Amino acid sequence: MSSQHVAIIGGSSGIGLATAAHLLEKGYRVTITGRDATKLQAAAQSLGGDIATVVMDAAELASLAEAFRAIGPLDHLVLALGGGHGGGPFATVDLADLKRGFEQKAIAHFACAQACLPYLSGQGSVTFVSAVSAQAAMPGTAGLGAINAAIAALVPILAVELKPIRVNCVSPGVVETPWWDFLGDEQRPAAFASFAARTPVSRIGRPEEIADAIAFLIGNGFTTGHTLICDGGIRLGQ
Ligand SMILES: NC(=O)c1ccc[n+]([C@@H]2O[C@H](COP(=O)([O-])OP(=O)(O)OC[C@H]3O[C@@H](n4cnc5c(N)ncnc54)[C@H](OP(=O)(O)O)[C@@H]3O)[C@@H](O)[C@H]2O)c1
Repeated sequence: MSSQHVAIIGGSSGIGLATAAHLLEKGYRVTITGRDATKLQAAAQSLGGDIATVVMDAAELASLAEAFRAIGPLDHLVLALGGGHGGGPFATVDLADLKRGFEQKAIAHFACAQACLPYLSGQGSVTFVSAVSAQAAMPGTAGLGAINAAIAALVPILAVELKPIRVNCVSPGVVETPWWDFLGDEQRPAAFASFAARTPVSRIGRPEEIADAIAFLIGNGFTTGHTLICDGGIRLGQ
């Protein structure tokens, strides 16, 4: 396992950063990417180990060929990037923000999976990170659900079209990461408590738990075309 190279697009924070730590511990060679060079360097320093960094914006489609050339040959790609654009009640969701959400997640994931192909091992894998908004029926997530459902729809198609490369997805529930910083320090604890109350395991998730699910899909050579929901059961609508 130690010689295998994993690139994590969106690896400088949250789920991607936890995945990098988990995979380094398992002996993988890891490249993390993000848009903010300072944040990326700090993340790499916090990790230590066999880590490389490439600054890239996955939504800048014209730059992706060069970014993947810089990443070089790889065995596994993890797509952990994405922000919160496109959220809000359906009746009032801002359509420009929804478009930005598609561009910065669904299209960026699609384009990175495409751009990595010249460098991706035929025995390798692609793991997308979508979100449980695609499976649950939570008011206020119509836009986020549509964006993440677009990613989930890709998975079985690519598993067949790119075979024998394996293509999978992890669909997280609510996880404590900087993704939620938009709420501010005042609002966040109450929002997390409310999500925890609606989650059968009675708490929100930790990024390490999503990292563990991603590592399973990378390492299990007989799993492909699968979306692994890792949400503490919040999709069940308790
Ligand atoms: N946290 C949750 O509760 C939760 C739940 C379900 C699904 N998810 C999904 O999980 C994924 C990871 O989220 P997270 O919670 O780990 O968020 P996060 O802590 O904000 O991390 C996002 C990472 O993606 C990078 N990134 C964002 N846009 C990028 C772009 N255009 N190009 C390259 N890198 C980019 C960020 O770095 P830069 O800002 O420096 O680019 C950062 O490294 C997202 O797709 C999110 O939708 C999260």
